[in-house]
Amino acid sequence: MSIIGTGHAGLPRLLAGMNAHGATMTLTEHQQVHGPIPIRTAGELIEVIERSGLRGRGGADFPTARKLRAVAARRRVSAVVVNGSETEPASGKDRLLLTRLPHLVLDGAVLAAAAVGAPEVIVHLGPGSPRALAALEGALALRSDDPVPTRLFAGAEGYVAGEESAVINYLNGGPPVPSFVPPLPFERGFRGRPTLIQNAETLAQIALVARFGDRWFRELGTTADPGSTLVTIAGAVAAPGVYETAFGTPVGDLLAAAGGTREPLQALLVGGYFGTWVEGSLALRLRLSREDLRSAGCSLGSGVLIALGESACGLHESVRVVEYLASQSAGQCGPCVHGLRAISDLFCALADGAAHVRERDRLVRWSEEVRGRGACHHPDGAVRFVRSALEVFADDVERHQRERCDAVPAGLPVGRARLGRDPRRRAA
Ligand SMILES: Cc1cc2nc3c(=O)[nH]c(=O)nc-3n(C[C@H](O)[C@H](O)[C@H](O)COP(=O)(O)O)c2cc1C
Ligand code: SF4
Repeated sequence: MSIIGTGHAGLPRLLAGMNAHGATMTLTEHQQVHGPIPIRTAGELIEVIERSGLRGRGGADFPTARKLRAVAARRRVSAVVVNGSETEPASGKDRLLLTRLPHLVLDGAVLAAAAVGAPEVIVHLGPGSPRALAALEGALALRSDDPVPTRLFAGAEGYVAGEESAVINYLNGGPPVPSFVPPLPFERGFRGRPTLIQNAETLAQIALVARFGDRWFRELGTTADPGSTLVTIAGAVAAPGVYETAFGTPVGDLLAAAGGTREPLQALLVGGYFGTWVEGSLALRLRLSREDLRSAGCSLGSGVLIALGESACGLHESVRVVEYLASQSAGQCGPCVHGLRAISDLFCALADGAAHVRERDRLVRWSEEVRGRGACHHPDGAVRFVRSALEVFADDVERHQRERCDAVPAGLPVGRARLGRDPRRRAA
């Protein structure tokens, strides 16, 4: 785990003072680095967040002040829920914050609770986060002055278990699956009452903006994308890990900060498994800003970048991910359950050279048919990934029809998927 500067003043921010040896920052250390929690009225806090231009870091990129206002306008708000699920298999930023810098996230949650009038904070963690759980328990034992109580909640396994309505369902005693919306959590959430649910990094950013203000926040980044953000850089780089960077940083600089690529960059997966493959030379010309990423058909999502070296096979790596995503359907919506399974099977067959290249058109058509047809965005994210793999690795689809694929497995991380086959089967 590392911190980078990019030539701008002011980095690191979120990761300032983080212990290089893996220890959790104590409350005293935290206060020495950042100072005490500021006293602001609810209105002031929402205004400063609005002026800062902060957007959610959980993947949907939603303006944070708009959500705070929507919840604050409601009566009988039940809670602020910290979404620390981090179900994206390659992502590590939320676990890093919760394990190493829990007071920053807790400060943000307490401030947000005051802003929306919530009587408690609930931290919803992913199931495989014992270190984060221990760090939070230790941190909470020292925070007897917090104006509202905080409870910790271990979430369920599965990619969609981190989706906000799935989190709310689980907190309410139901299964960890998304529900059809509306109502959204800000209308009816935990205990059937209005709830603010915010990603862990978003809350850590709130803790800093509340202290140092919107102008300070905007000293980094671009006008449209102010501030710094955490990115998890994985794959064929020398030093994979979580990095803090300013928006607007060239992608090439980011990869260099992660030790550089171990071999020439074939492609970069931007935005995790709901993300988009971008061809290597194009990726190296991009900056980490919404506008630049949009021009290449992608978005930062939950901040995951995965580098694919030229010796790997993008198609076979994608097979693992597509199978994983298909296995993660929550089983509620027909187009998602059956559509993603069929798409995954055909994608595998194409990658193996076992289906004719003409079947690619069918895959594209099926992808269009499942888009927007689920209660949550799971099918949309999965088909975005499939479409970009078909485009960026188009030559490989044709080549696998003719010859055996001898590429070295790069092993993109997938969670506990129900993988039904060996994705390294030889191409026909
Ligand atoms: C399938 C799926 C999985 C998600 N998993 C997470 C997650 O693990 N953590 C998270 O913060 N947001 C996750 N999200 C996004 C949340 O639904 C929600 O947008 C986010 O927690 C809101 O916080 P923010 O506004 O601070 O970004 C997921 C969304 C989808 C569609
Ligand atoms: S779209 Fe898929 S993952 Fe989302 S709720 Fe429906 S079945 Fe579950």
